Amino acid sequence: MELDAQEKNERKVELISEKEVALVADEEKNGRTVESASGKENKNHVKLAAEEERKRERNESEVKVAGEEENKRKIKLVTEENQILVTLYTAEEIISKVELSAKNKNESKSELVADVESESKTKWVKHYNSRHKILLVGEGDFSFAACLGRAFGSAANIVATSLDSQELLVIKHRNASANLRSLRELGCTILHEVNALSMRTHPVLSFRSFDRIVFNFPHAGFYGREHDSFQIELHKNLVRGYLQNAHGMVSEKGEIHVTHKTTYPFSCWKIKELAAGCGLKLIEEVRFTKWDYPGYENKRGHGVRSDESFPVGQCSTYKFTKK
Ligand SMILES: C[S@@+](CC[C@H](N)C(=O)[O-])C[C@H]1O[C@@H](n2cnc3c(N)ncnc32)[C@H](O)[C@@H]1O
Repeated sequence: MELDAQEKNERKVELISEKEVALVADEEKNGRTVESASGKENKNHVKLAAEEERKRERNESEVKVAGEEENKRKIKLVTEENQILVTLYTAEEIISKVELSAKNKNESKSELVADVESESKTKWVKHYNSRHKILLVGEGDFSFAACLGRAFGSAANIVATSLDSQELLVIKHRNASANLRSLRELGCTILHEVNALSMRTHPVLSFRSFDRIVFNFPHAGFYGREHDSFQIELHKNLVRGYLQNAHGMVSEKGEIHVTHKTTYPFSCWKIKELAAGCGLKLIEEVRFTKWDYPGYENKRGHGVRSDESFPVGQCSTYKFTKK
């Protein structure tokens, strides 16, 4: 068969006719090697276009089989001199390979889809998501917990705690009752009279571990001016005690967060040094802004103005993990 110039320069895939298959099978049966296609010029070769061949090499070709007879054909890859490079597979074999590859592709596709779907169901608020087991320490009016619960559509993954008893809390904060009510509806675990300095031994908490343990604006109370060393020491003791306890309650890759003002005299607390002394390393310091937490009202939490908010100014969320 005459090949035109362009075809000569291209490798081709030949479909051999049924007659040839029978011939080849016969030759193989008789112990002879499969003969080159040269000299079989008068046979019924179907040459696939070069583009189709490339597709086939990329496993992207569609093999269409018209009935059982078609399955019996063999496909050979030939050079321009019609020498057999590779005797490929029967159409049946190719179909099963293509089907297997398609199945694998579909499986990995569905795994990917499952991952994406599960990720899309995970709700995030800044550093926190609906899959984290979260412990909130030293809550004020529980508006931070309520913000997360609302955004997640559930607070079943949150344990929210206050130092104050429930009775005292609802007196101190006018929105506490409403926040507690909606948190209960969202499945939150609410605990009162939880001291950050001993929370590790709390009967409900001692056997649990958390992915995120959070204390926003820890403050030991107003016993002097903020720059007094006595006052600073009180604050430092509170933060140190919190970090030590949290260290024993955080999961292996979990994080302990403290949100704190970074300007003087609050910078004197030296939170990073305190953490290092508790076997924690800083993984990130992120500028804090209240607007990331809709509905959150930071509270003074002490004294006659307990329910008042305070300007957060420049502050950061410090994230620590176990060393
Ligand atoms: C400035 S307020 C911040 C309240 C709340 N975290 C917020 O962001 O609105 C400080 C909080 O620390 C709490 N606190 C003080 N000492 C504590 C302790 N030993 N254990 C737990 N909480 C404590 C107080 O009850 C108070 O609610």
